[in-house]
Amino acid sequence: MKNVLSIEKLSREDIDLILAHAGPIKALRGRHTSQPLAGQTWALLFAKSSTRTRVSFEVGIRELGGQVMFLNANDIQLGRGEPIQDTARVLGRMIHGAVIRTFKQSDVEDFAAFSRIPTINALTDDEHPCQVLTDVFTFVEKRGPIQHKVVTLIGDGASNMAYSWIFMAAKLGFELRIAAPQGYQPAPEILARAGGRIVVTDDVLGAAKDADLLYTDVWVSMGQEAQSGERIQKMAGYQINAATIRVARPDVLVMHCLPAYRGKEIDAETFELHAGTIFDQAENRLHVQKSILTWICG
Ligand code: CP
Ligand code: NVA
Repeated sequence: MKNVLSIEKLSREDIDLILAHAGPIKALRGRHTSQPLAGQTWALLFAKSSTRTRVSFEVGIRELGGQVMFLNANDIQLGRGEPIQDTARVLGRMIHGAVIRTFKQSDVEDFAAFSRIPTINALTDDEHPCQVLTDVFTFVEKRGPIQHKVVTLIGDGASNMAYSWIFMAAKLGFELRIAAPQGYQPAPEILARAGGRIVVTDDVLGAAKDADLLYTDVWVSMGQEAQSGERIQKMAGYQINAATIRVARPDVLVMHCLPAYRGKEIDAETFELHAGTIFDQAENRLHVQKSILTWICG
């Protein structure tokens, strides 16, 4: 049984396979005849909001020949306290695969274990593996191999995106620099678990110097709304803007997983200057997730 529960749990070989297959899937969109999900019904089980992930999975599953149902976690008994393990054992007898967006990483892992159907993490508090697979695919599409390149993440260094980047850097072998204020830097335990070349600093311009990719994510992730004021105050200055672009490599790429909050993690002018890359990145969610689905069913 194959799953995509986290970057931490994916092997380097599987990451390479998913990335390698996404290019041909993108190139052949609308012309490929392979329907690996024919006869299957997949569920999207979401406990948090989503635009990109939801739409790209719904479209991707259909394009691969499958049927798809969207289940808002609050609309099913899960939202009234039915355990994830029981939900998994029911759905596992009816559907062929699940894509889950929720809070606790252990819920996605329990769902996979109890349902015994392919399960994909569509974002938890700990990781966002589909997004970072897409980000690396987008980088390689535009600049070639990411090995030995410098990726600088500015903003919240302890977010699900930061953690997926940390495990990805360790597996693929590129330098990852994280510029985040004290209190929002990655947990030492995560860095130890991942290994790799990860630099953690509160020096934004030092981290951005000669970077090949500047990356950011929201300062306030879903579920952290009560901490908004404090987060916005502490992360002020941890922004992608003209000053960070100036010290990076001349051909630096700027990416954002979206949604973007102008004036916070990125300024409006820089966002618009790099909107071509950012929206290619958003589109690539579809192609990379079709590659994940094809790999999982293979
Ligand atoms: N980047 C991302 O996962 O977007 P959504 O929250 O809209 O799915
Ligand atoms: N860190 C963000 C990612 C959104 C795609 C969040 O969890 O809200």
